[in-house]
Amino acid sequence: MTHNPIIAALDVPTAELALKLAQEIAPAVGAFKIGKELFTSAGPDIVKRVRATGAAVFLDLKFHDIPNTVAKAVAAAVRLDVQMLTLHTCGGSAMMRVAEQAAQQTAVEYGRTAPLVLGVTVLTSHDAASLAEIGWEPNIGQQVERLARLATNSGLRGLVCSPLELVALRQVLPAAMQLVTPGIRTGAEKVDDQKRTLTPREAMQAGASWLVIGRPISAAPNPRLAAEQILASLA
Ligand code: C5P
Repeated sequence: MTHNPIIAALDVPTAELALKLAQEIAPAVGAFKIGKELFTSAGPDIVKRVRATGAAVFLDLKFHDIPNTVAKAVAAAVRLDVQMLTLHTCGGSAMMRVAEQAAQQTAVEYGRTAPLVLGVTVLTSHDAASLAEIGWEPNIGQQVERLARLATNSGLRGLVCSPLELVALRQVLPAAMQLVTPGIRTGAEKVDDQKRTLTPREAMQAGASWLVIGRPISAAPNPRLAAEQILASLA
């Protein structure tokens, strides 16, 4: 393992709660995920404050818009100094290409390493019926693969995928493609809304590059210890 692959999701409503959790667990994780709830309530300043803990930031806003607008949003995220960010691959190849270019160019301007622009394929909340409803290929596996190939051919260097998609995607994607996987459960926590899960170790063995972990860390009695135990389980 060349890096700590744990991305702890800061799925809390306020900056105070996020910073308390981030400061507590920063030494035991590789990055923090800031999503729509925290970003919308706390504002862009939360990115800088979380970055100040020393950990990388994954800004999970899942951009999807016309190419010019997404490119500008990506450039703004690079200026905020995020290390990973997301967009919807169904925005198409032109949108993904300019997003990746904006990440690279803005990073050069600011003397930073370009963030990993991660493509989201099919949200795991979809099933065959809800895909058919919006006119998409109802075979989820096929649609995921189609969008994953499009993302790769559009220059993206990473994807977000479900743990159960890892093995199939590793078979069809270039080895350098980074796969970021939520839906991780250790088995110690109580059952919640994640239905199809793998343990951290299983997900890494199936080909994950990074693991997005929320409640198994944030809702644990001792979040720092929980993160340390997950990291130890990967050794
Ligand atoms: O608490 P939990 O470990 O389930 O948190 C997982 C994180 O990953 C949450 O921020 C959730 O929104 C995100 N996520 C997910 N499943 C997806 C995509 C994102 O759980 N398919």
